[in-house]
Amino acid sequence: MSALPQSVLIVGAGGREHALVRALAASPAHPRVLCAPGNAGIAADVTCFPVAADDVAGLVALAQRERVGFVVVGPEVPLALGLVDALGVAGIPAYGPKADGARLEASKIFTKQILLRHGIPTAPAAFFSEADAAIAYLRARPAPIVVKADGLAAGKGVVVASTHAEAEAAVRSLLSLPAAPSVQSKIQIPQSEILIEDCLTGEEISILVVVSGRDFVILPAAQDHKRVGDGDTGPNTGGMGAFSPVDLVTPALLARIEREIVRPSVDAIAAEGIDFRGTLFIGLMLTPDGPSVLEFNTRFGDPETQAVLPRLATDVLGLLWAAARGELAGVKLAVRPAHALCVVIAARGYPGSYPKGDVITLPASPSLTPGTFIDHAGTAKDSAGRLVTNGGRVLGVTALAPTLQAAAGAAYVVCDQIHCASKYFRRDIGARQLHRP
Ligand code: AMP
Ligand code: GLY
Repeated sequence: MSALPQSVLIVGAGGREHALVRALAASPAHPRVLCAPGNAGIAADVTCFPVAADDVAGLVALAQRERVGFVVVGPEVPLALGLVDALGVAGIPAYGPKADGARLEASKIFTKQILLRHGIPTAPAAFFSEADAAIAYLRARPAPIVVKADGLAAGKGVVVASTHAEAEAAVRSLLSLPAAPSVQSKIQIPQSEILIEDCLTGEEISILVVVSGRDFVILPAAQDHKRVGDGDTGPNTGGMGAFSPVDLVTPALLARIEREIVRPSVDAIAAEGIDFRGTLFIGLMLTPDGPSVLEFNTRFGDPETQAVLPRLATDVLGLLWAAARGELAGVKLAVRPAHALCVVIAARGYPGSYPKGDVITLPASPSLTPGTFIDHAGTAKDSAGRLVTNGGRVLGVTALAPTLQAAAGAAYVVCDQIHCASKYFRRDIGARQLHRP
């Protein structure tokens, strides 16, 4: 492998980026680690620069000014805006797909067409830009049925409708969805297209695949908790907690997923002319008929990353660098047998409106048991230098332990030691696996 970079810039500001910062800073190559824009917790660990994650020109200029040898991009928006393309023009290697690959997340219709064209298992679907045709189609399908906006919608573009009436309302509302100015207009995806697809049943899992052209390494499976409330109730969120490994994903099932989903997807993406170098995050439904693709994301998951990276014994910097350089062939992953579980601490009200600026007190880090981490997501310092809430998902508490039960126990001890007026978290992260008959 070519020599590892001596400095790395991580782009993003969430818990995923804090976990990436920690993993890359722990590399035996001892790189200088920088982050933009980061948050209060990341800034306590490494130098942060106040350049927004969607400021492509600003990030390229920062990477040049700081003589950064490698850029790792966390969120989807800069990928879709072509940050990796722009860094490439400037001669700076980066981990993450170019804009053509990021389209696999930025356009659900683009991805569905590829999946259908290549015979990769996924729910049957049709595409519409006009409400009457969409409604005629969905009336002929059984309910429940799923209506999705085509473009990036920060988790708000998917409606799993239990009745036809609900689906029709979703069609009308999604077709009239205004383009979000900060995201859609810059990426120029017409918002006025929707997909209607059959509803799948089963358990959902997240498979993160480090891809480099036709080569790939599958990271350990994780399970997210997307609904805001205990028992999987309430609205969808970005993710309220995650754990890894997932018992459901036996070695035999993983082999099937590799054979029926991962290999064909990676080959299909390459056959479409995309030189994809980054994370292909495959959202899978484990249906009674086998694994089926719900979606592709083109970045690490949040909070899956917080639960997956601590389990890797392999140097994460070396892994991402090999993918970016096209040197992934033959790279083998070493995984610790431990269980990792991450509980997201949110601000009460998330994913709706929530307060900002609430003072947070954390347990002193020496009191954390080994293998327990607090990742910051929406945190900032106020003018008095106090740690305050600054986002919907505020912190992530991750614990690594020999069993899932012990990891959950250790994580929840820390959750109870964190004080903040608007603190909210689910009490049942991991419960499905812990109580599976
Ligand atoms: P997506 O952003 O496409 O992954 O959709 C968000 C969430 O909606 C998924 O994580 C699922 O929980 C749910 N969902 C999406 N598509 C389907 C489907 N075809 N059947 C059942 N649930 C779905
Ligand atoms: N946790 C799901 C996501 O990152 O999209």
